Amino acid sequence: MGVVKDLGEHYLARNYRRFPVVFVRGKGSRLFDEEGQEYLDFCAGIAVCALGHCPDEVVRAIKEQAERLLHVSNLYWTEPQARLAQVLVENSFAERVFFCNSGAEAVETALKLARRWAYLRHGPDKTGIVALENSFHGRTYGALSVTGQPAYWEGFKPLVPDVFHVPANDLSALRAAVNERTCAVILEPILGEGGVIPLSREFMAEARRLCDEVGALLIFDEIQTGIGRTGKLFAYELYGILPDVLCLAKGLAGGLPLGAVLAREEVMSALTPGSHASTFGGNPVSCAAALSVLERVLSPGFLDEVRLKGEALRKGLLSLVEEFPEKLKGVRGAGLLLALETRIPAGELCEALFSRRILTTAPKPDALRLTPPLTVAYREIDALLSVLRELLSG
Ligand SMILES: Cc1ncc(COP(=O)(O)O)c(C=O)c1O
Repeated sequence: MGVVKDLGEHYLARNYRRFPVVFVRGKGSRLFDEEGQEYLDFCAGIAVCALGHCPDEVVRAIKEQAERLLHVSNLYWTEPQARLAQVLVENSFAERVFFCNSGAEAVETALKLARRWAYLRHGPDKTGIVALENSFHGRTYGALSVTGQPAYWEGFKPLVPDVFHVPANDLSALRAAVNERTCAVILEPILGEGGVIPLSREFMAEARRLCDEVGALLIFDEIQTGIGRTGKLFAYELYGILPDVLCLAKGLAGGLPLGAVLAREEVMSALTPGSHASTFGGNPVSCAAALSVLERVLSPGFLDEVRLKGEALRKGLLSLVEEFPEKLKGVRGAGLLLALETRIPAGELCEALFSRRILTTAPKPDALRLTPPLTVAYREIDALLSVLRELLSG
């Protein structure tokens, strides 16, 4: 670790708190450090490596595409981008796709799309955006402004104006915030960085109804919940309602940077030539990787397996909750986006797991988040549960 850590400490911006390990290789749910020590990965690059590390078919698709064409920009057509848009449209509510490079950029695009759509239809005054307290949408100015966690705003104000935050699952606060001047409501179906907090069916349905009533767009940020993470391709399928705009990133290209915004034609038509763009967005290599990820995620039985593994993990965690009620409170989430709700500091549990070479995340002091690759094996779930049991017994 010496050299790499020293170089990093010396030259990199100091905006991350990193675990003391240098990873050099990964396969499936396993990572290997410089000394060849093996780690079990229930972080998966923060819910990115949907098919685990270096899945054969994704690596092959990347290699083949990299040998043909890396980049041409969006002045021209490329096949992987067009085909990926087709797959996303054919498997969602949407009719059109805009590609970018990250989650924050997808959120930024969705917010700009909503304002411009409202501007073209209703004039310049319909600019309000309603978002949730404790939400997370990214670090660029628009995405940061809708993020409902004041700690992330400190020192960065003034933020984008006309953003109103309401508590998650508070129907009357939502009703009070949405009005004729609202152009968009933006929601994560499960607040991931907020500690894996699912929105209720009633809240989601009311958001849909209010958006229809005032002529606003309902934006779902499925950057963390999308691409099979919850056991459905998109989490909105769990709720039986459709968004107007959908943001994707993270798992989409299985580890390469790629973001996407999906919408119906009538909405996406607000983006006319010159109104929005991205030089790298939808580059052929990331799109080739995403095509191969989606082929696997959409293959027969894959999402059923995610649901079954999610249930196995949830069941195991719930039995730990029963066993250690003084330390644990419950389990939240869906599919393979789960949090163990703790009474003890979740960060300490995460550190203790790390010292046993298991990677997890603790987005909140009471939430140990588990986002393994969607391909995680049952024996790997059992391995995590037995180490957790040992640590909790200590
Ligand atoms: C729901 C959600 N939206 C947006 C983002 C930001 O994505 P990125 O870090 O790729 O900009 C994240 C990242 O954690 C996220 O979980």
